[in-house]
Amino acid sequence: MRIARVSSTKLLEEEVIRIRRLLELVGWNNQQINGQLEGIEKFLGDKNCVVIFALEDDEIIGYITAQFYTWNKLGQIHGLVIHPDHRRIGFASQLVKEVEVFMRTNQARGIYVDTPTNNASGCTFYKNNGFRQAYVMPDYYDDGIDGVTFIKLFNKERNLSYC
Ligand SMILES: CC(C)(COP(=O)(O)OP(=O)(O)OC[C@H]1O[C@@H](n2cnc3c(N)ncnc32)[C@H](O)[C@@H]1OP(=O)(O)O)[C@@H](O)C(=O)NCCC(=O)NCCS
Repeated sequence: MRIARVSSTKLLEEEVIRIRRLLELVGWNNQQINGQLEGIEKFLGDKNCVVIFALEDDEIIGYITAQFYTWNKLGQIHGLVIHPDHRRIGFASQLVKEVEVFMRTNQARGIYVDTPTNNASGCTFYKNNGFRQAYVMPDYYDDGIDGVTFIKLFNKERNLSYC
């Protein structure tokens, strides 16, 4: 697996097709896929944002997107996906580490991320990567689909569980 930070300000048509294919495979609906693609396009060219691909033989097998907020010096992961055939071998962990490097370079205090409470693998993933559950927001994603925020503060002593 090769990690590549996207430096262009716009996705190539081929990249859009590949990301769409990846997200369809993961089971996302059209609305979710369009939302992700719009988010990626918005991040490209923004110095406070980062888009990183995981590549295997030039195929996009995963990606992570994140944004640094200057006002509170926290980073937010907006999207993280790995192709089902390439899971449990550490690729997502490597992408999160790359985002950490980006955030630390920006003097960030830490990183947070939201995911549905019913995303068991995602929740386990974040817990096992040094994140702690901060809070649950009822109906955050849709009626009956709660969201949970995980946070990882770089000052480890403050990575407490809040609820
Ligand atoms: C969550 C996701 C990004 C993990 O990617 P990955 O490359 O498989 O993650 P890693 O190999 O780095 O996993 C590291 C650890 O996370 C945890 N983990 C990952 N997938 C898991 C699963 N299905 N069940 C339980 N634990 C899991 C494990 O602790 C794992 O370590 P282990 O394999 O030694 O037990 C991937 O499953 C995915 O793309 N899911 C769909 C999208 C998503 O949920 N994104 C994250 C929320 S925004």
